[in-house]
Amino acid sequence: MTSGGGPTARVFGVDIGGSGIKGAPVDLDRGELAEERHKVLTPHPSTPDAVVDGVVEVTRHFAWSGGPVGVTFPGVVTDGTIRTAANVDKSWIGVDLVALLGERLGCPVTVLNDADAAGVAEMTFGAGRGHKGTVIMLTFGTGIGSAVFTRGVLVPNTELGHLEIHGHEAEKRASSKVKEDHGLSWSQWADRVQTYLQHLEMLFSPEMFVIGGGVSRKAHKFLPLIEDVRAEIVPAQLQNNAGIVGAAMAAAESADGAG
Ligand code: BGC
Repeated sequence: MTSGGGPTARVFGVDIGGSGIKGAPVDLDRGELAEERHKVLTPHPSTPDAVVDGVVEVTRHFAWSGGPVGVTFPGVVTDGTIRTAANVDKSWIGVDLVALLGERLGCPVTVLNDADAAGVAEMTFGAGRGHKGTVIMLTFGTGIGSAVFTRGVLVPNTELGHLEIHGHEAEKRASSKVKEDHGLSWSQWADRVQTYLQHLEMLFSPEMFVIGGGVSRKAHKFLPLIEDVRAEIVPAQLQNNAGIVGAAMAAAESADGAG
């Protein structure tokens, strides 16, 4: 399959995560995957060459050729270059992923932070749709990712998972990996998430928090336990596909800009 032409052409989205590299062609009119996504395990060590092989494998599964590909990365990304690598191999820092992947895939490639991608998708098709005030999307997974919007516009690479609260980095206290690694109960974990949200509320006064990452599927287990936060707190609606959809949206936007 190719991406075809015309305004409703499909674009490919790939989400590079701590455990898996997932991708699919995306239907940008509906903000949905156009086909069932394909996943390969994230290699360990997660070096650039090994991860790029994984991304290539995911696109090959769909025989994708030519059309734009959007890719998320779990770190700061500026001008297609990776600047931080908190939860992946440190050799990523300084890698121009747009150039590296563009060469391997022979397609135009756009790269952005994973939480930014998820946030963009949620603001357009999911829980944040229509919200004009400050909205903070948080993804709870191996780390904590953040995406901050006001009037629907993203401030990229905010990295609020690394805020220091009571002497601890937030993602080392409240990511869902920490919940698993330390066998925290829902109520113990919700307590930590509440402390984190209160801190963000003190700094940003958002009207809404959108809670994403795999754990958003179990929102009913912990959101009711978070009572002392003023902002509305809602689970992400695109759940685990938000990154793929947001990546494809970013790629389509770059393609439009270039054309
Ligand atoms: C990284 C962020 C990323 C988040 C979620 C953090 O450790 O620094 O860039 O968005 O994890 O993957």
